Amino acid sequence: MDQKQRPIVDALEAFQSTSPISFHVPGHKHGLLSGLPDGLRTAMRYDATELTGLDDLHAPSSIIREAQQLLADAYGADRSFLLVNGSTVGNLAMIRAVCGSGDVLLVQRNAHKSVFHAVELAGAHAVFLNPEWDESTCTAGAVAAGTVRDALDRHPDAKGVFLTYPTYYGIAGDELPAIIECAHEHGIPVLADEAHGAHFVAGSPFPPSALDLGADAVVQSAHKTLSAMTQGSFLHVKSHLLDIDRLTRWLSMLQTSSPSYVLLASLDDARARIAAYSEADKQAFLTWRRRFIDRCSELTMLETIEPDDPLKVLVRHKHVSGYALQQALEQQGVFTELADERQVLFILPLLMEGKDFPIEPVMDAFAAAVRALEHRKEDEPPAAEPAVPEVYTAIPISGGTASSSSEWIAAADAEGRIAASAIIPYPPGIPMILAGERLTEEMITDVCRMIGSGAAFQGAVRGSGDSIQMEVKTDQQGGDRHG
Ligand SMILES: Cc1ncc(COP(=O)(O)O)c(C=O)c1O
Repeated sequence: MDQKQRPIVDALEAFQSTSPISFHVPGHKHGLLSGLPDGLRTAMRYDATELTGLDDLHAPSSIIREAQQLLADAYGADRSFLLVNGSTVGNLAMIRAVCGSGDVLLVQRNAHKSVFHAVELAGAHAVFLNPEWDESTCTAGAVAAGTVRDALDRHPDAKGVFLTYPTYYGIAGDELPAIIECAHEHGIPVLADEAHGAHFVAGSPFPPSALDLGADAVVQSAHKTLSAMTQGSFLHVKSHLLDIDRLTRWLSMLQTSSPSYVLLASLDDARARIAAYSEADKQAFLTWRRRFIDRCSELTMLETIEPDDPLKVLVRHKHVSGYALQQALEQQGVFTELADERQVLFILPLLMEGKDFPIEPVMDAFAAAVRALEHRKEDEPPAAEPAVPEVYTAIPISGGTASSSSEWIAAADAEGRIAASAIIPYPPGIPMILAGERLTEEMITDVCRMIGSGAAFQGAVRGSGDSIQMEVKTDQQGGDRHG
């Protein structure tokens, strides 16, 4: 197929060039009635709806169908979907497509919160797969094939295996092929959350894509590493182990009935751009990245870590936490993806030949941040504390936690109580403690320490300093972690 084609972009452009008169939704009438500043209002000219010629995401027959066919062709899928509710909806739909009430799903423990929500909404049972500890990044990494094999021996009735590939920190590991083989021997599909790997299709030195390795369904946040707008994701299926009609029905139920055409156009464009990504483009990116890392390394206070995915780089300061380094960089106008107790995560630009991206201003910001933190140079180096503390094995989860009654109490009094909802450092959005888990002293200490050092949380914890509170169930239904 001609990957230069962008059917949605072209149709929108053609439509708006006729100066159409709107008596339909959206109510801003091509931006006329909006009070937004001009820059924002410009995009509203393209904020159309399912008008003649513009197709329908939920029953695609023309431009959206063509765009999805081009997407499947670019990624080597049997069938691909454009998603307007992020990889969140992809995870929800993939899981609903394989699991119903009471079914068992094997789930990598360090998964995004949407995965836990999907299991809960399905009323399924998650059996957790503990990831390996990644020493270089000090984070929970990939799952070992042996872990999946053991889990399948213990749960031969499992309906599928759900993996995060790569992790937020760019760890891919090399056991995915063996895991896929093992799952397929059991006749069950592998669902991969490749939210951070839409660019893997560009080939080495990026890790291989889960779809190429044989995963059955793969979701990718095209807005995270490609050029799509926020909320834009792809979902690919290549499998005889997954019912595509069931998946399509769930997508139709879970996605908005008013998808943004601006978003869809940005997905169409992002696909065309990554499909055209050449060896010369890759060399331009790799050259820029080497300069970035080499220049960073000239600052003796800093250390860089390179995970499996070259698009990610971690930077550590010898004496301060990632939160402090992130704050110092923000004061210089440089904004990073996330910080944890040890480091800051950079998502580099997937540059193309002929495109430039500032490097000197970033290095100046690093130098200024190091100067601003000079007074901390006598501090002890931060402990190599994990972003998601140790690889907790959690209780199996099942539906119903959202409906229990709860109360907020002081964290100091929460030991032994049951967490009313998940406790999630955000970003990365990987629950540290799950809804229904009994809170231990260690868990509470970890959460309070992380808040003290600057982590932001979602879910069942709030406050700061001495007034941290946790939301616990008023009854004691829940359970203890076990291995
Ligand atoms: C691993 C992972 N999966 C899924 C998601 C959800 O993706 P989205 O923001 O596209 O809904 C995220 C978001 O951070 C993520 O990190």
